[in-house]
Amino acid sequence: MTQTLLVNARDIPVLALDFMNHDHAEAVEMVNALYAALETAESTEIDTQLDQLYIHNAEHFAREEQHMQTYGFPPYPVHKSEHDRVLAEMKALISYWKSDRDKVALGNYLQHTFVDWFNSHLMSMDRVTAVFVASQMAATP
Ligand SMILES: [Fe+2]
Repeated sequence: MTQTLLVNARDIPVLALDFMNHDHAEAVEMVNALYAALETAESTEIDTQLDQLYIHNAEHFAREEQHMQTYGFPPYPVHKSEHDRVLAEMKALISYWKSDRDKVALGNYLQHTFVDWFNSHLMSMDRVTAVFVASQMAATP
C-alpha cells in the first residue's frame, strides 16, 4: 500500500546541527503517520498521535531555545515567540479536534498550516540559528 506523504524526508534541508536534523526527521515521520491515520484510524488513536506531535514539538523547541540561550543568539526572542505562537495554535487545534472531530479541518491544518510553516521555518529561522550556534560551538574550546 502506498501512503500519501505530506512531507518527504529527502526534501527537508540539512541544517548545521545534528540534533535539529534528527528532531526534524522525527517530526516528518510523525506528521506523515498522523495524516495517514486520518483515513483509517479511530479518533482516540488520532488523539494520541496529535498529543505526541505536540509534545515532540514542545521538547524540540525547548532544545533549540536552550542552544540559542547558551550561545547567545541575538534574535532569540523572535525565534522563541514563533515557537510559542505555533504551540498555542496547535493547542487550539487539538482542543477543537477533540470536541468536534472535524477530520477536514484537521487535514487542512496538517496539509497547509503545519507543513507550510514547517518548511518555511526550517529554511529561515532554524537555518540561521543552526549556522550561528554551530559556529559558536566550533569557536568554544
Ligand atoms: Fe525553530
